[in-house]
Amino acid sequence: MFRALRLDKSDGEFQREFVTLDEGDLPTVGDSDHPELVVDVEYSTVNFKDALAVADQSPIVRSWPMVPGIDLAGIVALSEDSEVPVGQRVVVNGWGIGEDTWGGMTQRARVRGSWTVPLPDGVSTAQAMAIGTAGYTSILCVLALEEHHVTPDRGPVLVTGAAGGVGSVAVALLAARGYEVHASTGRPEEADYLTALGASTIVERSELSQPGGRPLARARWAGAVDAVGSHTLANVLAQVQPEGCVAACGLAQGMDLMTSVAPFILRGVTLRGVHSVHVPRQRRVEAWRRLDEDLDRELLASMTTTVGLDEVPAVADEVLAGRVRGRVVVDVNA
Ligand SMILES: NC(=O)c1ccc[n+]([C@@H]2O[C@H](COP(=O)([O-])OP(=O)(O)OC[C@H]3O[C@@H](n4cnc5c(N)ncnc54)[C@H](OP(=O)(O)O)[C@@H]3O)[C@@H](O)[C@H]2O)c1
Repeated sequence: MFRALRLDKSDGEFQREFVTLDEGDLPTVGDSDHPELVVDVEYSTVNFKDALAVADQSPIVRSWPMVPGIDLAGIVALSEDSEVPVGQRVVVNGWGIGEDTWGGMTQRARVRGSWTVPLPDGVSTAQAMAIGTAGYTSILCVLALEEHHVTPDRGPVLVTGAAGGVGSVAVALLAARGYEVHASTGRPEEADYLTALGASTIVERSELSQPGGRPLARARWAGAVDAVGSHTLANVLAQVQPEGCVAACGLAQGMDLMTSVAPFILRGVTLRGVHSVHVPRQRRVEAWRRLDEDLDRELLASMTTTVGLDEVPAVADEVLAGRVRGRVVVDVNA
């Protein structure tokens, strides 16, 4: 028997409860081409998307009932996949867990073997969830900038939504690689926190978040990681240097994007979309290798709060209110 957080809306009314389940309750996710396995989950995390699902604020969940949690880390307890042995420490990010199939806010989970990435020896299951989809998306953004030749010698790079999960990890990762990092935040009280992560300059959120910005403005940044979207992304694009790149992964301000072609046709700026959910496994393995290599564990600890499963609903409300700094790990066995 094990505990899980379960959401349901089968009858039209949203319900959220902590339940005790046994393995037979875990829905099947595999088939003859996709062998499955059972993970003893040690940790999950509350990403922005999880907060939306747990608070029923957005149609994240596409099948009911649902165990939320788009991330999990733990140890393989049973395996039908010859490539993923029992006892292997694994992380799962995305692939629709917590959206289409049951996710990580549980003590046991059934997933496809192909969804798992073996954790590098240097990353604990707790650290893997301190990183979570937010941090793994940050490294995908950093890789995207590198692939577009945004190197530290090209000039400063910007991170928007910097005090959030994606932003905090992105600041730390970019600073570790020698970039001059400018951090945009709406929380000036987090300036010391962001400086400790490696930011050299704090940019007021309101400098970038207003509608009606010019199509092109002074070119300030060689590149950017944008977790915010909307007017912020439009204003960032207008301030990126020629041949620069913006890795866009988020919509914390909004999903809209009112911009012009000017940054693209007059400065050769690249807008690179980053989507973490269905990234091929090989790129995930590389992303986790880089996280292991680049992410300072003390800084990771400084941006992380740990809660128990019972606290998840309250934390979700805090995340949606923009009051959570950095990352929240869920110890599902606490
Ligand atoms: N593409 C993908 O695969 C992928 C993966 C992970 C996350 N995401 C998306 O990335 C975004 C960030 O995720 P997260 O986990 O970092 O969330 P988070 O921890 O809640 O951080 C979001 C941050 O955005 C800033 N923000 C919030 N509301 C804002 C507003 N109205 N205007 C401007 N800035 C605002 C805040 O930063 P400050 O307090 O510093 O201003 C906040 O901390 C979300 O939209 C999420 O859905 C996408």
